[in-house]
Amino acid sequence: MKTFIYPGSFDPPTCGHADIARRAAALCDKLIVAVLGNVNKPGAMFTVSERVKMLEEVFRNTPNIEVKHFDGLLVDACHAWGATCIVRGVRGMDDMANEMQLAAINRRIGDVQTIFLPADETLMYVSSSVVRELAHYKSDVSSFVPKVVADAIDSKG
Ligand code: PNS
Repeated sequence: MKTFIYPGSFDPPTCGHADIARRAAALCDKLIVAVLGNVNKPGAMFTVSERVKMLEEVFRNTPNIEVKHFDGLLVDACHAWGATCIVRGVRGMDDMANEMQLAAINRRIGDVQTIFLPADETLMYVSSSVVRELAHYKSDVSSFVPKVVADAIDSKG
């Protein structure tokens, strides 16, 4: 059974994340969408359990996607869950420097490979930080995030 892992902060999950996860799920038997749990970034919009719940709803109809959270090193989660490949979405060259470093570290310390999927060209400008900023100014984000996320943002007021 080929298990891949798609890790991230997902604060909040965006349409870009959903697109990458669905495309990655088509490349493996099981995709674990793994929410980073132990970092309390200042200015977080949602708790980790809220992010997990929203992602579970987003992928409710995609049977080979499972949502989990992890604390600590990503490679330890990979080993614990039998994931042999990390998936990361790349929106452009600006993402690549950081992603190459992460990929190299994860291969060196954990012998886990990374594959990069290019963001859909219609979603390249969508990021969690842009959504957080727009939401802060009460701008409509409903075309950038799945409906369950837009509803959760709305209900935060
Ligand atoms: O959505 P993000 O914030 O770009 O995701 C980053 C993430 C969660 C993939 C990365 O920060 C991560 O893997 N953190 C866990 C700690 C770890 O293993 N770091 C890599 C070695 S420094």
